[in-house]
This record gives sequence, structure tokens and C-alpha cells, in this order.
Amino acid sequence: LADENRGRIMKTSDLEELNQIRVKLLGKKGPITEVLRGMRDLAPEERPQVGEFANKVRDELKTAIENQRHDIEQEMTAHKIAMETVDVTLPGTPVRRGTAHVIEQIIDDLEDLFMGMGYQVVDGYEVEEDKYNFEKLNIPPDHPARDMQDTFYLGHDLLMRTQTSAVQARTLESHDFSKGPLKEISPGRVYRRDTDDATHSHQFHQMEGLVVDKHITMADLKGTLLAMARHVFGAEREIRLRPSYFPFTEPSVEVDISCFRCGGKGCAVCKYSGWIEVLGAGMVHPNVLRSAGVDSDVYGGFAFGVGPDRLAMLKYGVDDIRSFYTDDLRFLHQFKTEG
Ligand code: PHE
Repeated sequence: LADENRGRIMKTSDLEELNQIRVKLLGKKGPITEVLRGMRDLAPEERPQVGEFANKVRDELKTAIENQRHDIEQEMTAHKIAMETVDVTLPGTPVRRGTAHVIEQIIDDLEDLFMGMGYQVVDGYEVEEDKYNFEKLNIPPDHPARDMQDTFYLGHDLLMRTQTSAVQARTLESHDFSKGPLKEISPGRVYRRDTDDATHSHQFHQMEGLVVDKHITMADLKGTLLAMARHVFGAEREIRLRPSYFPFTEPSVEVDISCFRCGGKGCAVCKYSGWIEVLGAGMVHPNVLRSAGVDSDVYGGFAFGVGPDRLAMLKYGVDDIRSFYTDDLRFLHQFKTEG
């Protein structure tokens, strides 16, 4: 009995089946119970031997069942663990990584350059007050310069800023000159009421630069812009300043860089002139200093406003500014960076 059943017990790998075997062998209707129950029919001298034997068989079966149950449970746990194991050597599902937008890359790069020269990066407001976007920049309400910078008005005195120069007006007001010079750049979005086409966008980017201290000269401006031009377009670049007009700078200049496609000789990129116009700049107008409460007899400085969109178009030969804003991944992924 014991051997045959031990074989059955050890063959099963199923807890349910094992339980059935247990009930069948050790239960109330099982052979052991039956033997023990039949004891009363036996001669008294036979009872101890039969009883002892039956108990021994019962204990053996019990132990065998217990051991098997333990084995099965262990097997199941092992199986479960094996199923849950992650094979770290399997190739994963590729994750589509985004990348910094090409305009963002240009801005990041300029920030690095200027921070290296001791400038701080200042955020402004895209929704701006008329007085910071215009009035404190020497552009009173009836000034014709407002025509070129028509914008979106959000209320009587609130508008979408047309130029990052608005940040100049704010920081000039808040800067504590007793603690040292003001040197800032301020990149961000600006807005104009323009109809979008290949070279116009109703929103684009600018980066303002402003340095105000004692004894700042136009040579400082020129040196700074030359450093920027060479950083962005190559060490062989030269720059040229042409007289221009902005209400908040005097004198004002338009800044050209020597063409990087044709070695200064002339090609379509520079309209066959050898020079490419890249930005506007000038010496901060005394009125701007004064309306910010800065003593224009003691302090002076320079400012410039450069367009990251324009830089990116020139640098990468992009001929339509709308490409930057229409989210065509085939276009944007050309500027994908590592890391
Ligand atoms: N804010 C001017 C523009 O939008 C650019 C500029 C900035 C010119 C600073 C001079 C000084 O055209």
C-alpha cells in the first residue's frame, strides 16, 4: 500500500490532485480508517501489531504528502519568479527622443557665449505694458516708429511686446548701479502685426543685449558684436556698422557681417554685396536712461537686438521663417543634437 501510493503521490505536480489523494487515502472512507475501524473484529493479541502497522503507514503517507506539497509549492514559486524575471539583455522598444528646437539651440549657444563674458540672462514678459515696450524707450504715443511695430493689444495699456528692448526699460529701472555695471542679455518671443510669409512671422524671437556702466564706448559695442558674429558664423568674419535709426539708441547702427558663403566677394546670400545685415544696435539714448531714473551724465551704455530666427536662417540656409513654426518633424529633425 505504502509504496504504490507513495509513487502516485510523488508523480503528481498538482495541489488539487494531491489533496484528492490525501482524502482518498487518509480520509474517513479511506483504507487506513477502514483498517483501524475493523480492529474491533480482531483478536485482542493481534490489535497492537495491526494498529501499529496502520499508524505507521498513515504517518508515512502523511509525511509523503506533506513533502510533496512542499515540493510543489516550491516549484510553483520558482516558476513564478522565473516568469517575472526581466531579461535585461533583450533589446528594448526604441524611445523617440525629442530635441531642442533649432531656435532654442541658437539661443542656448548665445547664452553660453554671453554668460562667459559676464552677462546675466534676464527673462522678460511677453505680455508687456505700453510704457516698457514703447514710452520708456523714447517712443511716445504719437511716435511714427510705432507704425513699424504694430502689435496685438490686450487692453488699453497691455500688449504683446514687439521687441525684447522692453526688458531694457525694466532692468534699467531696477538695477542697483552702486553694486556694479549692468550686463544682461534677454532672449524671448516678440510679436508684430505682420502677415506671415517667407520672411515675416507674427511672432518670432529676439535677444536683447544691454551693457550700462561708466565709460562705455562704441568700441565696446563693436568688439562685443564682432565676438558674437565670429562665434556664430566663424572666426574669419568681419563686421561693419552702418548709420541707422532707433528711438532708444543714439547713435544707432545697422550691423552687417561679412558673407560667409562667398568669402566677402558677393553671392545670392548677401545680395551680391559681400555683406549680410544681421542686427540693430546703438548707444543707449540718454532719454531712456533718464526715464529709468539713471543719471545719464554719469552712466552710458550700448544695446543691441539680434534675431535668433534670422541667425538660424542664415547659418543653415533656411529660406522660409515659417519652417521654424509649422512643426514639420522632417525639417526639425535635421537639427537634432546628440545627448
Ligand atoms: N528693438 C530693435 C528692433 O526690434 C532692435 C534694437 C535693439 C536696436 C537694441 C537697437 C538696440 O528692431
